[in-house]
Amino acid sequence: MNIILLGPPGVGKGTQGVMLSEKMGWERLVTGDLLRVAKDAGTELGVQAQQYMTAGNLVPDQLIIKMVEEKLSTLSPGTGVIYDGFPRTEAQAAAFHLMLEALGRTIDRVVVLEAPDQVLTERISGRRSCLKCGSVYNIVFDPPKKEGVCDHDGTPLFHRADDQADTVRNRLDVYRRETEPLISYFEESKAIVHRIPSEEGPDEVQAKVREALGLGE
Ligand code: AP5
Repeated sequence: MNIILLGPPGVGKGTQGVMLSEKMGWERLVTGDLLRVAKDAGTELGVQAQQYMTAGNLVPDQLIIKMVEEKLSTLSPGTGVIYDGFPRTEAQAAAFHLMLEALGRTIDRVVVLEAPDQVLTERISGRRSCLKCGSVYNIVFDPPKKEGVCDHDGTPLFHRADDQADTVRNRLDVYRRETEPLISYFEESKAIVHRIPSEEGPDEVQAKVREALGLGE
């Protein structure tokens, strides 16, 4: 299975991706996480990406495409993959088709998570993340067992620099302008697209995602 998780900032792509991956044993390819790791490691990619991410703008397509190509080449051929945060532009989507074709993979499903902007901003303001394992918490909706540290590996949780209110507004604008049009792009390319209303809690949303994908309980 190759599944794209699409949706605005804060809608729950990471949360749903982790739940699906834990249950199904699929890999996650999360461009935002790959960029944050590169930034923390101070690699050339991380340095180049930093200014775009801090402002809430998209990192240039050629950097993202190269990064995804490298990551994909490390995955064994039969592995199911959940793509979270990629593709985000038509140029990325077109390059992605070619990459998958070369690897004998196809996009099986596109899952679009949807929620009103007010819900998104509330979720983002309470988000805390683990850079080590990718787990995502929320101080209001889904707090860790021990304040400030990851339940899975005890790593201190961090509040993302791009989760400040002004930056979030820009990220939402960028999403509407650059990424939302991909929904029609995929529909027109005959991919199977599922739109999932995502205002309920994580478990309820996960149940809808699994049902849409025909995965059962
Ligand atoms: P990225 O990290 O991908 O950010 P994003 O797409 O803006 O998405 P988020 O990570 O903010 O939200 P999410 O949907 O994963 O929600 P989450 O599960 O965390 O990208 C960051 C930046 O990197 C971009 O701005 C760009 O600069 C760059 N970038 C990345 N990919 C790129 C690409 N392909 N091209 C160019 N640039 C790229 O949940 C949010 C919060 O809500 C959490 O606290 C969670 O606990 C809570 N929550 C989740 N679901 C629920 C629920 N159902 N009920 C209650 N709370 C919930």
